[in-house]
Amino acid sequence: MKAVTSRASSAMGEGIRALSALLEARTGQVLSQDRQWRAETALQPVLRAHGLSDVEVLAAHLARHRDMRLEAQVVDALLNNESSFFRDHQVFEMIRGQVLPDIRARRADRRLRIWSAGCSTGQEAYSLAIQLCNDAENWRGWRIEILATDISATAIHRARGGIFPQMDVQRGLPVNDLIQWFEPVAEGWRAHGRLRGMIDFRQDNLLDPQAPCGPYDLLLCRNVMLYFAQERRGRMFDLLKRHSHEDSVLLLGAGETAIGHGEPFVAHPDFRGAYRLPSCARGPARFPLRRA
Ligand SMILES: C[S@@+](CC[C@H](N)C(=O)[O-])C[C@H]1O[C@@H](n2cnc3c(N)ncnc32)[C@H](O)[C@@H]1O
Repeated sequence: MKAVTSRASSAMGEGIRALSALLEARTGQVLSQDRQWRAETALQPVLRAHGLSDVEVLAAHLARHRDMRLEAQVVDALLNNESSFFRDHQVFEMIRGQVLPDIRARRADRRLRIWSAGCSTGQEAYSLAIQLCNDAENWRGWRIEILATDISATAIHRARGGIFPQMDVQRGLPVNDLIQWFEPVAEGWRAHGRLRGMIDFRQDNLLDPQAPCGPYDLLLCRNVMLYFAQERRGRMFDLLKRHSHEDSVLLLGAGETAIGHGEPFVAHPDFRGAYRLPSCARGPARFPLRRA
């Protein structure tokens, strides 16, 4: 019995390993040991939908057949889409109280451009839209663009729909904002059209990006690089750099840093935990800036 169990578990490892390799090739995400176990649970709906008995059978099927649709579903299921409104509350407080007012004071052309890279189901982008709407008086006359991208088709579909179950709105969304910016629907709460209209949600792979068209004033790439291999993180910073300008502010997730990647970005002198381009990489402004 023991031998059977151990054979089964080593065989199970093979299947997950093959699917992990698929995930990494497509998205750059590396499945750590502890996430491999959760991955099996995440794959259950895919197994059920295709009448496959377990992960081994799924991996063997994909090895034998070039089934792009199934591959995409597997990758989608294995992605970690964890997100919440105003995630890391103090970061959003800094954006509201310091970063956005600073951009407003600098950009003479009254244009604000934000990119939420790896936006998942959209809570990050909606949180920013809420902050801007709550401060609408100060943004009157501004042209505001929020691009929000994610590789997951499912996540982007949900983000565009703007419907969040009760459980999601209970995580981080202040009651006042819920009442003001969402309406109750059968499935939970739907973001008002005004919020939805502010955000351009697009499915896009950060490893082969088509959507971003920088430079952006504020770039958020939070909790995305955490599971990238070192080399891919370097490529990601190059990408973020290409879409930044001399005054851009970059925000990463709490467990992520730009330090140790050849200094593509340096710690921002004014905003705690944020990054900016180093002075050597900061060319002339590509738009009118107000200078003190
Ligand atoms: C943990 S969520 C973070 C969501 C949000 N940024 C936050 O911090 O709440 C990570 C997101 O990155 C996306 N992602 C992972 N690899 C990606 C890639 N290569 N291109 C675009 N998005 C990717 C995943 O689909 C997932 O939705």
